[in-house]
Amino acid sequence: KLSVDTTQKTADVSPTLYGLMTEEINFSYDGGLYAELIRNRTFTNRWPRFEWWRVVTQGESSAVVENGDSGPSEALAKSMKLVVREASKGNEAGVSNDGYWGMAVRPSATYRGSFYAKPAGVGTAHIRLIANQTAATLAEATVALTDGDWKKYEYTLKTGAGVVPGKDNHWEMTFTQKGSIELQLVSLFEPTFNNREHGNRPDLMKMLAAMHPNFLRFPGGNYVEGNTLAEHFDWKKTIGPLVGRPTKRTSWGYTSSDGMGLLEFLEWCEDLKMEPVLAIFAGYTLNGEHAEGEALNPYIAEALDEIEYVTGDASTKWGAIRARDGHPEPFKLRFIEVGNEDNLDRSGSYIKRYPPFEKAIRAKYPQLKLIATSWQHGGSPDLVDDHYYQTPHEFFDLVHKYDNGDRNGPKIFVGEWATRTGSPTPDFGAALGDAAWMTSMERNADLVVMAAYAPLFTNVNPGGMQWSSDLIGYDALHSYGSPSYWAQVLFNEHLGTQVAKSQAEGVGNRFFWSATVSPEKKVLYLKLVNASDRPQSLTLDVTGAKAGAAVTNTMHAATWYVTNAIDHPETIKPVKGTTTVTAGSWKHVVGANTIEVIDIPLK
Ligand code: AHR
Repeated sequence: KLSVDTTQKTADVSPTLYGLMTEEINFSYDGGLYAELIRNRTFTNRWPRFEWWRVVTQGESSAVVENGDSGPSEALAKSMKLVVREASKGNEAGVSNDGYWGMAVRPSATYRGSFYAKPAGVGTAHIRLIANQTAATLAEATVALTDGDWKKYEYTLKTGAGVVPGKDNHWEMTFTQKGSIELQLVSLFEPTFNNREHGNRPDLMKMLAAMHPNFLRFPGGNYVEGNTLAEHFDWKKTIGPLVGRPTKRTSWGYTSSDGMGLLEFLEWCEDLKMEPVLAIFAGYTLNGEHAEGEALNPYIAEALDEIEYVTGDASTKWGAIRARDGHPEPFKLRFIEVGNEDNLDRSGSYIKRYPPFEKAIRAKYPQLKLIATSWQHGGSPDLVDDHYYQTPHEFFDLVHKYDNGDRNGPKIFVGEWATRTGSPTPDFGAALGDAAWMTSMERNADLVVMAAYAPLFTNVNPGGMQWSSDLIGYDALHSYGSPSYWAQVLFNEHLGTQVAKSQAEGVGNRFFWSATVSPEKKVLYLKLVNASDRPQSLTLDVTGAKAGAAVTNTMHAATWYVTNAIDHPETIKPVKGTTTVTAGSWKHVVGANTIEVIDIPLK
């Protein structure tokens, strides 16, 4: 029996409960959300030679590439130099780029491109999108170049209505004249969400929007820490024109162009109406290097400047720089996270590093809520970030973890959590573990005030993933949600503002539930999770329920191994239905391996 009394609330549900966590991992931005099609656009992957770039020759033409010893900016001080030895009309020579495991080309689309160049004699650049297998030209443009010093050039590629959507394509720039050209920051963007210049992939943004996320925790994760002090997320190198951003090695083994910089993260929040949860670098890196005492001061100053960049008006130094970067309006910021996973800090230094950050931030920005990333913090944070990467059974065992948690101490931010079965994206067993865990967070949503699944994204191509079990998978053209993704969509779409008093008797030990009420909408959201391979029969007794039809959303699979993948993206998805609510109590069966949400109208 499951009894719910909708007239008695046990807690308020935090309005910020579900959000997103993001970092550059698994080609999340470059090769993912960030809609750049050219891979290694800054030529910083130089082994062997310029990775993902090739020399192209037709007929008798001839060309080589070599290191260019100048560049268009201090940040990009080197280049790739193409030397065209022989070329003529019909015998063009140049370079091509393979993209991130191909390039998405769709019909009737406009692609905006640009590059920096220092040409000598090559004349006009012929730029094309070409199908790999047929060599068919899908779009083309010409750009007249002027010999001389570094200059930015722009171009547009438009596809015709007859182009078949595909990703097995590449980009080429060729010449019909002999000469040389140094190239840097060679770029081509597919159409972006909200048409933002240098913006995000629309399919992925739409998937995130469907999750109704309240916040975005960025930029990490390990990404904020970096492998060494020199490689930490140095936000000042991620703002302003792209030509001023140097490209860096990340903690996940590949380089980041920093196209997704601080302002882009904030605009991403703006586009999806999420509030930023800004993680600042706290002086500790993944190799154990850390700063203490006086040595911490530059990092504290860096964090204060960062907060000013986000929130300051144009009368402040960094607010004015943000305005120069194209966003005069300050962003609303309430949450600052100091570091990442400092419970794993092998030096034990967080207890000395956290307090000076807290002191400095509170002195200048007393309104901000601070999140510590270890319980050994030595200060008085408003929230502490707990992380959980578990198996389904481990999550089943953890569902009472916060029931008796201290309601007088800091609130809990579950800043990273996931059930890790299935690869590259989680399977249905993982979704069951997730759903069980979410029922426990909802029950305790007065204490667990924020939560975010991690990692959010993975590129599913071989070599695209560094961490298995990621919420959303994609290649250059397509994207899909894992069963865990759909469980998140379901749980956030059907969430009340109050936790109703509820109690179960005689249910199996793999049965979990959550009962939240929206007094405003007069609905009880009853979430039922049966992670057993037997159906769970229930007598539902809901005080306050209105007799009649109720909408159900159900996810079910025959086994825990069933999953979604890039070539079968919708095997598991919530299915809508109805059930009948009877006055008093009524019988209801939750199928084996099932996640079900019933929206029960209230009197
Ligand atoms: O989400 C993947 C990694 O897991 C994060 O970068 C790190 O914070 C955690 O260890």
